[in-house]
Amino acid sequence: EKHISIAIDGPAAAGKSTVAKIVATNLSYIYVDTGAMYRALTYEAQRTKVNLQNEQALIDLLYTLDITLKPSPQGQLIFINGEDVTEQIRTNEVTKEVSIVAKHGEVRKEMVDRQRKLAKGGGVVMDGRDIGTHVLPHAEVKVFLLASVEKRAYRRYEENKLKGFDSDLEQLKLDIAKRDKLDSEREVSPLRKAEDAVEIDTTSLTIEEVVAKILDLADERI
Ligand code: C5P
Repeated sequence: EKHISIAIDGPAAAGKSTVAKIVATNLSYIYVDTGAMYRALTYEAQRTKVNLQNEQALIDLLYTLDITLKPSPQGQLIFINGEDVTEQIRTNEVTKEVSIVAKHGEVRKEMVDRQRKLAKGGGVVMDGRDIGTHVLPHAEVKVFLLASVEKRAYRRYEENKLKGFDSDLEQLKLDIAKRDKLDSEREVSPLRKAEDAVEIDTTSLTIEEVVAKILDLADERI
């Protein structure tokens, strides 16, 4: 049996990490959440008051950071130099500014190096914005997940409610749309569908249906 690479890209809150985790578990593959890596750098830059427009300062900081992703029964845990920052990287403060950090070419280059090392040997499900177009251009399966901004905001709203906090649906929509715009319009590896990626609109699909489609695509290649 072949150990393939599966690339899952798409806009913010399209459900990439939810389905990627399930697909990885199903195939006993590793799951790599590349967004968490950009979030980890953003969190650390905010904490140490690094100017997010200062590419050199960010890259200097990144070189001092060992960012590790560890699977756990509750989902993936993220560590910076051994410290668990799983929750800290999901705050609004980080979410609002991560696209500024992620636009810098030198930052991306180092992140992509690290991501390719993690994917070496295959047997990987990786999600992000530039996986199919840039990080793993030879991935056997490439998926581009989309959903309407209304649906994505609504899912995030429900997710937050389950976690016990209320959010403003209209504000969520604005934040998601703004992040998509920054990610799609940046110069280096912008968010876009790879030519050979299969587009899946999840607006009216369940998680199970999306997972089944991706597992079907994987089956054809394994
Ligand atoms: O996937 P997630 O929403 O956690 O990603 C956070 C941010 O990290 C994105 O909005 C984007 O700016 C950046 N990102 C990226 N390239 C990736 C993954 C994430 O630029 N491969």
